[in-house]
Amino acid sequence: MNLIIKNIKELVQTETEPRRWVAGVAMAQLPTIKNAFLIIKNGLIENFGTMEEYRALDDRFYNGFSEMDATGRLVFPCFVDSHTHIVYAGSREQEFVDRIKGKTYEEIAAAGGGILNSAKRLQDTSEEELFKSAQKRLHEVINMGTGAMEIKSGYGLTLHDELKMLRVIRRLKDLNLIEIKANFLGAHAIPKDKTREEYIDLIVNEMIPAVAAEGLADYVDSFCDKGFFTPEETDRILKQGIKYGLRPKIHANQLATSGGVQVGVANNAISVDHLEHVGEAEIEALLHSETMPTLLPGAAFFLGLHYQPARKMIEAGLPIALASDYNPGSSPSGSMPFTMSLACIKLKMLPEEVINACTINSAYAIGLEKTHGSIAKGKVGNVFITQEIPGYSFMPYAFGTDTIDKVILKGKVFRE
Ligand code: NIG
Ligand code: FE
Repeated sequence: MNLIIKNIKELVQTETEPRRWVAGVAMAQLPTIKNAFLIIKNGLIENFGTMEEYRALDDRFYNGFSEMDATGRLVFPCFVDSHTHIVYAGSREQEFVDRIKGKTYEEIAAAGGGILNSAKRLQDTSEEELFKSAQKRLHEVINMGTGAMEIKSGYGLTLHDELKMLRVIRRLKDLNLIEIKANFLGAHAIPKDKTREEYIDLIVNEMIPAVAAEGLADYVDSFCDKGFFTPEETDRILKQGIKYGLRPKIHANQLATSGGVQVGVANNAISVDHLEHVGEAEIEALLHSETMPTLLPGAAFFLGLHYQPARKMIEAGLPIALASDYNPGSSPSGSMPFTMSLACIKLKMLPEEVINACTINSAYAIGLEKTHGSIAKGKVGNVFITQEIPGYSFMPYAFGTDTIDKVILKGKVFRE
């Protein structure tokens, strides 16, 4: 709860003026303090600065605080993972093998695999079992530095099972480990036993009102892509979500130039996510919006899709957020450190840009920029301490290496 970390080699992503996000050329700037201290009081960041400034403080105010020495180590604000699907049943390594042998993600989905495969397994799994496996994943990602996240439904595809998933997400929230936002993704795939019209009517007329009545979601999502939901269908679903108090936050342009970005922006989505297929029209729509473009390089990596045009987007002046997309079909990893490495290596983003994208910008993408995503007075004291490493660029550089030593949530050590 009350903690002082001293002798920090470099304190990363410090903020003195509140920012909503960072965009364009500013993404290459990462504010840090060398030889720093950080004080967390009652779970919130109370103070930070240089060790010289620390020595000038009246230490009577910090009597009885736990102390840590971070000589040779960096301290980061925990990552914000703004796009995940960590509530699921089973796994899909058979489809992974099928893809190695040459089948595409869309072919597997069209043959009843993919999301429908996960939906069948989830429908056969109890809420309790789902909660246990999701809780395990939650602990796993916190240990990798994640300190706030979004989780989607979307493997239920019936009223009963979508509500079951969202109740699991609520139970994860109620653990009070990290801040969690819930996204209702009924529009993830069309179930086999319904026509498109029937299922979309069900989403609009029954699911959204039921989700809102129980207060189970913050956002409404739609997989607006080739072979899934059209922009017109997405528009109808998002408008109904808005009517029920859910802000849009959608899947767009993963498999094709789907019109998803434009329909998201037109409905003031907080973010549009994936964006493998982004051209001038999409960039133009995003430039004059409050919508955070969110890239999920883990899914492009795992599915062998081409990577998102991050450089073009940054050069056009856009902000970018990064997220893991942790799910059983297209990104079976919730590692934000690996996401950072992919973004550097494949999207040609600089380490500074990547750190901004995984902290302050991804915090905005789930409405948490006032409380998470940077080291700022009054923000939640969720931070991680690295191993002894030369500097912050070492983290994405040393891909697959565990460079985190300790994770601290609200001033308490979570990962020792
Ligand atoms: O974000 N693109 C749509 N949904 C998930 C994948 C779902 C699955 O294959 O299970 C994604 O990549
Ligand atoms: Fe996703």
